[in-house]
Amino acid sequence: MTAQIIDGKAISKRLRIGFRERVVKLVSQGVTPGLAVICVGDNPASKVYVGNKIKACEECGVHSFHHGFPDSASEADVLSDIRKLNADHKIHGILVQLPLPPHIDVRKILEAISVDKDVDGFHLYNVGGLVVGNTIFPPCTPYGVQLLLETTGIDVIGKNVVVVGASNIVGKPMALMLLQKEATVTVCHAKTRDLAQHTIIADILIVAAGKPGLIVPQMVKQGAIVIDVGINRLPDGRIVGDVDFEGVKKKASWITPVPGGVGPMTVTMLIENTLRSAERALHLRKEDDYQEWEAPLLKLHQPDIH
Ligand code: GUN
Repeated sequence: MTAQIIDGKAISKRLRIGFRERVVKLVSQGVTPGLAVICVGDNPASKVYVGNKIKACEECGVHSFHHGFPDSASEADVLSDIRKLNADHKIHGILVQLPLPPHIDVRKILEAISVDKDVDGFHLYNVGGLVVGNTIFPPCTPYGVQLLLETTGIDVIGKNVVVVGASNIVGKPMALMLLQKEATVTVCHAKTRDLAQHTIIADILIVAAGKPGLIVPQMVKQGAIVIDVGINRLPDGRIVGDVDFEGVKKKASWITPVPGGVGPMTVTMLIENTLRSAERALHLRKEDDYQEWEAPLLKLHQPDIH
């Protein structure tokens, strides 16, 4: 068996065409969606990610505002910037690129972002929404994975889904979203003993560990669906995921490549959340009643609330 490829780049491209139409509609109603991206320090990987986010904004007609701070910036400097952005009507989404320098308390920063502009979905309010299956802004990477699975026609109900990695950004929200979709979810992490014992039972294996070559063919069930969230730069400059792609594709039924799998979807879902925020703001302005407002894409993909 050779796995079929889940092409995140192509799926992203299709979604972004739809986004441009939504932007045109918003602009015709007097709202240009705006995303503020705050970056502290000069982490090279963060610079690449932020560059990709800004490029995607340009592609879709979203205004981007890049706020770069030196590594020496204080927590108070960043908090003050966030407060201004919270009050700025041109801004519909605020993103603080992680990681932050160690002298800045990441939770304090994330909690300062208005929940109405929290397009990364990292504020505790949105995290809580995820727990009860009623979130405004699903975190972009797991949301992208969910859409990849849905677009490919892969149903997760009752499936054994194993998530490798338990980060706040990917692993934990991914597990919650899958649980809400009625999958049977196992979460493995750095302290998990005998990882292979868990991965081998996965109908769907989602790997977000940040370790190149972690998942080898012996750890994968024949016919499994493998989603590789890892993005690792090797000493020779190559970008690879956490999965031995060449080996595992001989056993899997579907697999995501790196690059070109989950990566583009993360950025695409950020734009989706920014548009949703702008549409929500417009509705609030017009109706003064956001209770009745329902996001178009979220309505499609939001699981039932139990
Ligand atoms: N750093 C790595 N991934 C992400 C992400 O999805 N959002 C933010 N803000 N920072 C990140």
